[in-house]
Amino acid sequence: MQDLLSVENLSLKLGDRRILSSVSFTLERGDFAVLCGRNGAGKSQLLRALKGLIQPDSGRIVLDGVDLTKNRRERLKRMALVFQDAQLQFVGETVEKDIAFGPLNLGWSREEVESVREEVIAVMELDKVRRQRPASLSGGEKRRLTIAGVLAMRPDIIFLDEPFSALDYPSTRLVLSSLVRLHQEGHTILVVSHEVEKFLRHTTKVLIMNSGHMCGQYRPEESLDELRRADVYVPSLPLEDFSWLQA
Ligand SMILES: Nc1ncnc2c1ncn2[C@@H]1O[C@H](COP(=O)(O)OP(=O)(O)O)[C@@H](O)[C@H]1O
Ligand SMILES: [Mg+2]
Repeated sequence: MQDLLSVENLSLKLGDRRILSSVSFTLERGDFAVLCGRNGAGKSQLLRALKGLIQPDSGRIVLDGVDLTKNRRERLKRMALVFQDAQLQFVGETVEKDIAFGPLNLGWSREEVESVREEVIAVMELDKVRRQRPASLSGGEKRRLTIAGVLAMRPDIIFLDEPFSALDYPSTRLVLSSLVRLHQEGHTILVVSHEVEKFLRHTTKVLIMNSGHMCGQYRPEESLDELRRADVYVPSLPLEDFSWLQA
């Protein structure tokens, strides 16, 4: 099967600092991957480079068989990035207008915009707050709204940077369950998180980074020892007992 995303030997310097050193990994269509590694490992910069917010110095970014390394516009359009700070992305007066903003900007017809808006409001469970101002939402609702906003533009891949940061337990569970639902619906997701244990039960792939290097990509069940070696917290439980969504 052809990979949806293939990242080959990506390198990036900022000033005279080496941030990414020959990073390679792949995502298949429908993968739900979690990327972890210590603070400063280069995870956020990797997402920014993939999406096209900064240009890597060398390496290749191939999406669906097409080399898009030099085509930042196409990457910006087809790869969505949900930033760690949810509030930065709101543009609409109300939740539903915020969700419609992206598709309207892409020039979609009114019917298309309405249909995608209703779809993402349902999948992200935002119906109750659809007429509220984004600023009035709770932390968890804001995070779900940012995800809804990028989802509405029908990207090929969704990147999320630390989606649980500053969320309490119930909000974390709601965001996690919506990501699991997106995965079940066939979306391809790469999430950066140091809270790997919350994802392990649900992901298809674990990526570990250290000091700008990709240490490897693993199936969840074979990742536990690697994670411990990389000094990432994993509880000493059987993998099937990891879920945060039970109980
Ligand atoms: N604008 C910048 N100039 C130089 N170095 C930077 C810049 N932004 C981030 N860095 C450095 O890049 C490295 C990777 O950062 P980052 O990708 O944010 O790490 P992570 O998300 O894994 O915690 C860090 O050492 C950070 O200090
Ligand atoms: Mg980061």
